[in-house]
Amino acid sequence: MTKPNADPIYTMGRSEGETDRLISQSLLYEGITLRFFREAGVAPGMKALDVGSGAGDVSLALASLVGPEGHVIGVDMNPDILETARARAEAAGHRNVEFVAGDARTLDVGDDFDVVAGRLVLMYMADPAEAVRGFAQRLRPGGVVAFQEADLDRYRTFEHPDTPLMNQIADWVIAVFEQSGAATDMGFRLYRTFLDAGLPAPTMHYEALLGGADAWAGYPYAVQAFASFLPLFEQFGIATADDVGADTLEERLKEEVRTAKLPLLLPPHITAYARVG
Ligand SMILES: C[S@@+](CC[C@H](N)C(=O)[O-])C[C@H]1O[C@@H](n2cnc3c(N)ncnc32)[C@H](O)[C@@H]1O
Repeated sequence: MTKPNADPIYTMGRSEGETDRLISQSLLYEGITLRFFREAGVAPGMKALDVGSGAGDVSLALASLVGPEGHVIGVDMNPDILETARARAEAAGHRNVEFVAGDARTLDVGDDFDVVAGRLVLMYMADPAEAVRGFAQRLRPGGVVAFQEADLDRYRTFEHPDTPLMNQIADWVIAVFEQSGAATDMGFRLYRTFLDAGLPAPTMHYEALLGGADAWAGYPYAVQAFASFLPLFEQFGIATADDVGADTLEERLKEEVRTAKLPLLLPPHITAYARVG
């Protein structure tokens, strides 16, 4: 558990497996994120800040929208993962993307951004509204604040009597985020966060990935996610490696989907953006 006013534990841990998981997650969520940024007005020539850039996927999405005339700075407090992000930006041929290590709330990266964005990062901050207030100060007038966060509180409402395994994994996921102190309602709370940060009421969307076909990328992603969760599952007494059964989890999930004829739902995300000044 965290102390009051302290940031939550980073639930997914820090490992090569977790970096791979972030990349798989991004491939799944890329469509949502690109649609979101386009609607928020991210366009060629803009300068963008990516808060909590992880393995670089949001920065790469921003880079594809701002184009070679634009500029992207990704900030992450985990310097190791930035090595992966830099290598991926280089491999993608982006010369206008840079990554800086540090706490995005306090690092001085300038105040002339057209967009400040982040995905799955505010949920790890003790005071998201105060953080967003600070991020908005990095914008030039007319700039955009755009965040995408998970909504685990409502994930539970999708539990169905015909999908006991899906219900079980949803309960484990919700429990590990709750016990680590992360904001499980961060997506839904984006609205209040923007208002408390002194921003206009945001434009929002609720989006979720679900699927069932054998080749759906959501299955291996779910198994990877459970590998990242396992140390904290065990630390918090939520589930053991045997309970999770990672070796057979993918096949058991597919079997449940086939039998129940109901899709597997991944945690929903909520997007919110507002133009400032
Ligand atoms: C769940 S990952 C998401 C990464 C990336 N945004 C994505 O969607 O692929 C959250 C990342 O935020 C970083 N992070 C959390 N709090 C941060 C802070 N205050 N400043 C900079 N990075 C932070 C973590 O180190 C981690 O890499």
